[in-house]
Amino acid sequence: MIAPAEHLSIRLTVNGRVIEREISARHSLADFLREDLGLTGTHVGCEHGVCGACTVFVDGRSARSCLLFAVQLDGATVTTIEGLTPPEGLSPLQQAFCATHAMQCGFCTPGMIVTVTELLEANPAPSPGEIRLALAGQLCMCTGYVNIVRAVTQAAAGLRGGAGETA
Ligand code: FES
Ligand code: FES
Repeated sequence: MIAPAEHLSIRLTVNGRVIEREISARHSLADFLREDLGLTGTHVGCEHGVCGACTVFVDGRSARSCLLFAVQLDGATVTTIEGLTPPEGLSPLQQAFCATHAMQCGFCTPGMIVTVTELLEANPAPSPGEIRLALAGQLCMCTGYVNIVRAVTQAAAGLRGGAGETA
């Protein structure tokens, strides 16, 4: 049984960079990313695994970073929205979100982008229904999802070299 105040050392790779830290055993991955590493693109909403704002890749699979303790990630590879963003400009998916007005406040957007990245890796040509299903665990309070589905459809077509399908 780990005492609440205990600190443990971890070593993990975040956005291609090897990180070694002593951290509290109770520190969530979301807080570790934001507070310890300054990667504030990962947003924290509900802290209960409901809203999806905190979604990141852990060992290549999307995961709620608010539901993981950072110490569980010893040896893991984590990719955040910063790791999905090119050094200059935006990725095609991010550009599509901007071009189609698929975000308003933008709070949900990093988690959306991570989730959609995973979707498009598995299914490069998702139907609007498949996009909505993939986003069922990502809550957006602003957009009503219509433009998000359009953004994903447009980005998917662009990534396939298509001619810009619409949702
Ligand atoms: S903050 Fe993690 S799911 Fe809402
Ligand atoms: S754009 Fe505001 S919560 Fe989705």
